[in-house]
Amino acid sequence: MKKLKKTQGKLGILLPGLGAVATTTIAGTIAINKGLALPIGSLTQMGRIRLGKRTEKKQPFIHELVPLQPLKQIVFGGWDLYEDNVYESAVHAQVLEMDLLRKIRKPLENIKPMKAVFDHNYVKRLNGHFIKEGKNKMELAEALMDDINNFKTENQCDRIVMVWCGSTEIYIQESEVHRSLESLENGLRNNHPDIPPSMIYAYAAIKSGVPYANGAPNLSCDIPALVELAKKTNTPIAGKDFKTGQTLMKTIIAPGLKSRALGVEGWFSTNILGNRDGEVLDDPENFKTKEVSKLGVLEQIFEPGLYPELYGNLYHKVRINYYPPRGDNKEGWDNIDIRGWLNYPMQIKVDFLCRDSILAAPIVLDLALFLDLAKRAGMSGVQEWLSFYLKSPQPLNNVPPIHDIFKQLHKLENTLRYIAGEELITLLGQDYE
Ligand SMILES: NC(=O)c1ccc[n+]([C@@H]2O[C@H](COP(=O)([O-])OP(=O)(O)OC[C@H]3O[C@@H](n4cnc5c(N)ncnc54)[C@H](O)[C@@H]3O)[C@@H](O)[C@H]2O)c1
Repeated sequence: MKKLKKTQGKLGILLPGLGAVATTTIAGTIAINKGLALPIGSLTQMGRIRLGKRTEKKQPFIHELVPLQPLKQIVFGGWDLYEDNVYESAVHAQVLEMDLLRKIRKPLENIKPMKAVFDHNYVKRLNGHFIKEGKNKMELAEALMDDINNFKTENQCDRIVMVWCGSTEIYIQESEVHRSLESLENGLRNNHPDIPPSMIYAYAAIKSGVPYANGAPNLSCDIPALVELAKKTNTPIAGKDFKTGQTLMKTIIAPGLKSRALGVEGWFSTNILGNRDGEVLDDPENFKTKEVSKLGVLEQIFEPGLYPELYGNLYHKVRINYYPPRGDNKEGWDNIDIRGWLNYPMQIKVDFLCRDSILAAPIVLDLALFLDLAKRAGMSGVQEWLSFYLKSPQPLNNVPPIHDIFKQLHKLENTLRYIAGEELITLLGQDYE
């Protein structure tokens, strides 16, 4: 791979859905640029990477190894069905303290949403009216492409990336209309019901050559038609569903138990949360999308088919309960019933008092910056190395995804070394002898 040059000009990050996660990302980036806070949780900003042998003691920052867009050269924009500007939306989301928001009020107020492509049938709990009109879904996609182009020109951006931060839509399975680009484009013209708004945004981005990541569990870009389009337009894509609170913990703990051949017979996970996301997920049709995304994780890590005595009877249950008093400050409980030597039972209890959007915001930023890097490096289609950030990674050519966070990190780091022309690290260690 040829050596990448430093980035030029501004990067526009466009976010469909200017709710809790998006406004926390935008306000956070502005606060960091003003020196008011630290980008904790973001690998692109704070992570280091080992190069060469351990004895060489070379551990530069990731942003020193590969040229990433500087935070000061980023412009944000987005779409929503509520007309609130980013300051108003951030106040409503109640994630960040007013003291911080007041200090950055002006730049936040300047970011106003563009009219959304929205259809009530896919998210029944929302009732905003700031919505585009069009004869069919293709016309709406074209309107989004115009928005992207206008945003790029008006803000004098060199490049654009898009990260879906909109609500979770109802559960839709892959069907005939998703199988090829031709059938998807026909479906867009004929208003096919299996094409929800998130897929229209994904189509508009990928068609425009704009890298696209999907932070929710909806299919969005996870269909053969959009993978085909991504290859055709040389566009990197990544999905789906940000890996934040409980699933983050799961993909940290489960590989550890498996590595010691400890059995697991039950994993019960329940959450309370009271933000708008929680309200949307209170609708069973929308919760189903999230449930499927959350359930896949343990099955892949434990491989019960290969380890029937250890994981063959694993009972995995996930609940999300909408509980308004908690707002964005979610609480997630896990009860894990494990088995040790001679099948003796033990239990692990996890009580994670986390903050949903505080965990998600650095993921949005990292996905945007890494997708932009991938684009400049000439990488297109599904970026499996970004699975590290995702709860339900989009498979690459039908190869089952990896959920173990440590394997995902290893893959991410080796991809960065590969992009930078550095030797890959195998951890073999024989040459130290
Ligand atoms: N916060 C986390 O930890 C986390 C983790 C994984 C996934 N997610 C997903 O990220 C997404 C955003 O979460 P949030 O907490 O910010 O939710 P939120 O409800 O605060 O924000 C979502 C925003 O999207 C808007 N929206 C919905 N449909 C839209 C459309 N078609 N076009 C434009 N705007 C649209 C809504 O009006 C709302 O403002 C959700 O799908 C959530 O499931 C969040």
